[in-house]
Amino acid sequence: MGKHVVATVGEIPPGSRKLVTVRGRSIAVFNLNGEFFGLFNRCPHQGGPMCEGILTGLIESDEPGRYRYSRKGEILRCPWHGWEFDVRTGQSFCEPERVQVRRYPVEVAAGERVVEGPYVAETVAVTVEEQYVVVDV
Ligand code: FES
Repeated sequence: MGKHVVATVGEIPPGSRKLVTVRGRSIAVFNLNGEFFGLFNRCPHQGGPMCEGILTGLIESDEPGRYRYSRKGEILRCPWHGWEFDVRTGQSFCEPERVQVRRYPVEVAAGERVVEGPYVAETVAVTVEEQYVVVDV
């Protein structure tokens, strides 16, 4: 396991995603209204590219003719056969007890923290103002 800087926050605006490769793993990083989530870019059904799926919401119904729509943009539909997954948990809605997409922890780190290291050398004052998206693999 290690932390890998994969983008600046500005590169993945809310509602979008970025496909990254970390240690040979293809990972789709999603920004849900400022919260970041990492999913393996391989659908557990037959290997479809999760990063190319559309983001939709959750439709629930208690009786015919009535429904509720919620969680807009948090449900990922695989582009190959339409299986749907919760971006926050990776859970499938087809077989929720058994199937889920592998998740990777993602955090946002300030630039000053990203450049910290175990080595000390002669330095000059530098400020880093961007924030970065960091995937833990
Ligand atoms: S490969 Fe994703 S639904 Fe079939």
